[in-house]
Amino acid sequence: MEIKNSKRLHIETYGCQMNFSDSEIVGSIMAEDGYETVESSANADLIFINTCSIRDNAEQRIRKRLREIKRMKKENPDLKVGILGCMAERLKQQLLDEEDVVDMIVGPDAYRDLPNLIKTVESGRKAINVLLSEEETYSEIEPVRLGSNKISAFISIMRGCENFCTYCVVPFTRGKERSRDPETIVNEARDLVSKGYKEVTLLGQNVNSYSWESNGEQVSFPELIAKVAAVSPQLRVRFATSHPKDISDDLIKTIANTANICKAIHLPFQSGSNSVLKRMNRKYTREWYMDRISTIKKYIPDCGLSTDIIAGFCGETDEEHQETLSLMDWVGYDYAFMFKYSERPNTIAQKKYDDDVPEDVKSKRLTEIINLQQALSLRSNKQNIGKIFEVLVESFSKRSGEDLAGRNSQNKMVVFPKKDYNIGDYVMVKITDCTAATLIGEAV
Ligand code: SAH
Ligand code: SF4
Ligand code: F3S
Repeated sequence: MEIKNSKRLHIETYGCQMNFSDSEIVGSIMAEDGYETVESSANADLIFINTCSIRDNAEQRIRKRLREIKRMKKENPDLKVGILGCMAERLKQQLLDEEDVVDMIVGPDAYRDLPNLIKTVESGRKAINVLLSEEETYSEIEPVRLGSNKISAFISIMRGCENFCTYCVVPFTRGKERSRDPETIVNEARDLVSKGYKEVTLLGQNVNSYSWESNGEQVSFPELIAKVAAVSPQLRVRFATSHPKDISDDLIKTIANTANICKAIHLPFQSGSNSVLKRMNRKYTREWYMDRISTIKKYIPDCGLSTDIIAGFCGETDEEHQETLSLMDWVGYDYAFMFKYSERPNTIAQKKYDDDVPEDVKSKRLTEIINLQQALSLRSNKQNIGKIFEVLVESFSKRSGEDLAGRNSQNKMVVFPKKDYNIGDYVMVKITDCTAATLIGEAV
């Protein structure tokens, strides 16, 4: 929809799904203020960069983008630039001092203040709001769906994190943990279904600690996800992320017993070594983690499993690294996000431990982890050959316009010849071949 006389806002999002969901809230707040979100930065009046601080290279990417934008601003001096999200919260005023291209700094809990901050910027001054809130969940704001395939959407169900894993900046950039009113979550899911959406992902840094109380009634995460799944049997429900320390039998059974909750769990283990887990303050042991995986496999035998792994955390020995490899092998993950440890300023690890694993050792360990995961993904995919899965079609295949691509319940990408099927269809597909990344099949 073209809004008359509106100004053009281009939003670029880096980092996790929570940031993508936040950008949609920002788009909505800005639309109320007369800004239309546009796909291209080329003729925008205002550029927002929603930033991530999780690792140093995430911040470096954003610094590089700012240098490009600086050149754009030379050609269009009226262009305004705002930094949102975690890097805004972490660096605050310092970022305004260091990057003269930036006009405004807005932390993740201050988006309702954007219209005021814009006024300040329009009057030629710089603006900053990095106040964190204990209550803000943007609960009633209807997000503008950005870059959406109109099939799947994110719903943010909680904000913040108080786990203080020693390596992590998130508790500092996102503040206190708080849950969103379940009624507004269910309403958002209903609204998406009425617009034709087929899949929602419930988002939080640690969804298992979701908790809402009103009129003496307590809603836990398993209850919330069941409520969302009850909105429509045609709606697939996913969630991210669970913390291994408190993924409950209750949740595992709810997933097992509800047809439209997807059989896929992302359970980051970070390290297979108890001494490293302790230094990371992850609050579980290798044995506890293995027990959780066994329980998942018992109730949901076909469950897709994915994880996050950090290579070369402070003090990690070669034996400790081997324990990470052996745990990966024992679980047999379908997919993993794998990172080299990146020391973040002012985190507990930075204050307490030396970042003493040499860069080349970190790289070597990460390569071993990646190579093992590649083999595990291929092994897992090969076991799917001959099976039939229900696939929700999301797009055309990247390789060929003759093929469609979508996911099965286990969150594996499946590619198959289009025939008469369309984006948004549920299609039964028989798997005939695979790579480590993709299942290949035919509609049956
Ligand atoms: N809340 C989620 C993860 C959020 S961050 C959870 O606890 O599982 C996503 C991933 O980034 C983490 O799981 C971790 O593997 C990685 N990560 C976080 N801080 C990091 C750091 N300083 N260096 C390298 N990887 C990091
Ligand atoms: Fe970071 Fe740990 Fe919180 Fe995840 S649970 S966001 S890794 S502090
Ligand atoms: Fe990055 Fe912030 Fe998400 S640091 S990973 S954007 S919560």
